[in-house]
Amino acid sequence: MRELLLSRIIDVPDYPKPGVTFKDITPLLADATAFGALTEAFAGLCERVQADKVVGLEARGFILGAPVAVRAGRGFVPVRKAGKLPGATLAQAYELEYGTAEVEIHADALKPGDRVLVIDDVLATGGTAEAALQLIRRSGAQVAGVGMLMELGFLPGRRRLEAALQGAPLEVLITV
Ligand code: PRP
Ligand code: MG
Repeated sequence: MRELLLSRIIDVPDYPKPGVTFKDITPLLADATAFGALTEAFAGLCERVQADKVVGLEARGFILGAPVAVRAGRGFVPVRKAGKLPGATLAQAYELEYGTAEVEIHADALKPGDRVLVIDDVLATGGTAEAALQLIRRSGAQVAGVGMLMELGFLPGRRRLEAALQGAPLEVLITV
């Protein structure tokens, strides 16, 4: 499966800015076999960690996480960029390379004691995922695990995320 997924991710040099190589997952999404294999892998993780809910991180984590939730028979909860959710929210700011960003979750989306699987496409610095884990814990829920399609192995995101996971499993399908 690793080779199939890898073959459907395209490197786009100097996007969105010079010196950055963008990992384009749209060919993977367009390939039903590859997208299906990814979904099965994370639905299996959802079963193994006994998650009650799947949390996807805007935007690409929505695309990957929603079919996982449906396949595993769990509900889906979005963590959105600030200002997009209509109800009462919890907000978490985090550091970017330049400046800060903020993500939110509906305050009542998770129940105390819910076990949550977080799904996203890329683990880079780990800032986005770490903020999501903070929101989940602030909701009173437990982090059951994190599933990432790919990890940028040259960045220290894994170390940062593992500290935030407090022993919960991290499953990465591809390291690039
Ligand atoms: C990208 C990627 C991850 C995040 C990883 O999201 O999809 O969510 O960055 O970076 P980090 O580990 O350094 O936090 P981005 O918000 O750039 O784009 P998207 O809305 O297309 O998902
Ligand atoms: Mg993203």
